[in-house]
Amino acid sequence: EKNGFDHFMLKEIHEQPKAYRDTIRGRVDESGRKVVLKDLNLTEDRIKQIQNVHIVACGTAYHAGLVGGTVIEQLVRVPVYNDVASEYRYRSPLITPETLVIVVSQSGETADTLAALREAKSNGAHVLAVTNVVGSSIARDADDVLVTLAGPEIAVASTKAYSSQLIAFYLLGLYLAQVRGTQSEDQVAHMISAIQALPEQVESMLENSDAIKAYAEQISHNQHLFFIGRGLDYAVAQEGSLKLKEISYIHSEAYAAGELKHGTLALIEDGIPVIALATQDSVLEKTVSNIKEVKARGADVMVITHEEHVASLLKSVDQAFAIPKTLPLFTPALSVVPLQLLSYYASLALGHDVDKPRNLAKSVTVE
Ligand code: M6R
Repeated sequence: EKNGFDHFMLKEIHEQPKAYRDTIRGRVDESGRKVVLKDLNLTEDRIKQIQNVHIVACGTAYHAGLVGGTVIEQLVRVPVYNDVASEYRYRSPLITPETLVIVVSQSGETADTLAALREAKSNGAHVLAVTNVVGSSIARDADDVLVTLAGPEIAVASTKAYSSQLIAFYLLGLYLAQVRGTQSEDQVAHMISAIQALPEQVESMLENSDAIKAYAEQISHNQHLFFIGRGLDYAVAQEGSLKLKEISYIHSEAYAAGELKHGTLALIEDGIPVIALATQDSVLEKTVSNIKEVKARGADVMVITHEEHVASLLKSVDQAFAIPKTLPLFTPALSVVPLQLLSYYASLALGHDVDKPRNLAKSVTVE
């Protein structure tokens, strides 16, 4: 059932190209220029009335929502608020009928996320669930379901579900933008073709995982490390950090790169690994100066960036890992892959139970 892979996690990492294709299939029209989300109950009128979007979830699904929030804000220009489900409903969130609440859950059974959904519904919001399980409690209770077609995910550490949630958000963002007219037809078509290229790009990354494996073995001896990035890179850094903690038990922290100097820089000392994500060209120079800040304090820096920046970045970092080129909004669907492999191989090097990490359950049905 592991299809020749040693662990479900590795199998599921390798299933991502298929998960992307399946999640895209049937949601782009024949011309390749329009997103079609036929089954949505959310009417065009209601979409036009949306004043704000709340994205609520737990753990990795929350991290997918962070990316989704930026995507929707950029493409649709409506304010988005992200929250973890266990906080959301206790703060009396400002929900109105003009709020679109998006809950994200692989299993569709997470107790806090289900409770947040109910809170949102009772306040009159339209609730859309991004989930991987069609018959789940969350899918049943939501007003709309946008299914990720990742297939069953067995490993406790979520991989293909997260990245398929990103694909779902890309399609949803484009759809909302189409209806509200915030992106031109040509822009939408251009973005659709970039999304359609992602599965093959992931395939090419999976074929070249040796460098990440070697790096994982190298860092597996460290007690602490940092992930840094700006914007979407920061969102992916948070997911990379959670994944590493979850299965390798190595302590790590994800930091917004520009925020380090406000306290955390004090922890940077000789030899501490810092994994920098630098895929967002608009803030590349800023991230490079943050990389120099940690280098100057002795950090050992590995950067994940586009091929075109590798040569120049290698002047300031110790190692670089290149991801294929895509549009800035879509880099998370690629940059997360080396981070998944990093935690997988670190856990493996340390001899841990990769698929069943201590203290954790695949589905958290208690609050
Ligand atoms: O099934 P869900 O997506 O609602 O689960 C949410 C989290 O419990 C889950 O993503 C958790 O953080 C993962 N084990 C992380 O890999």
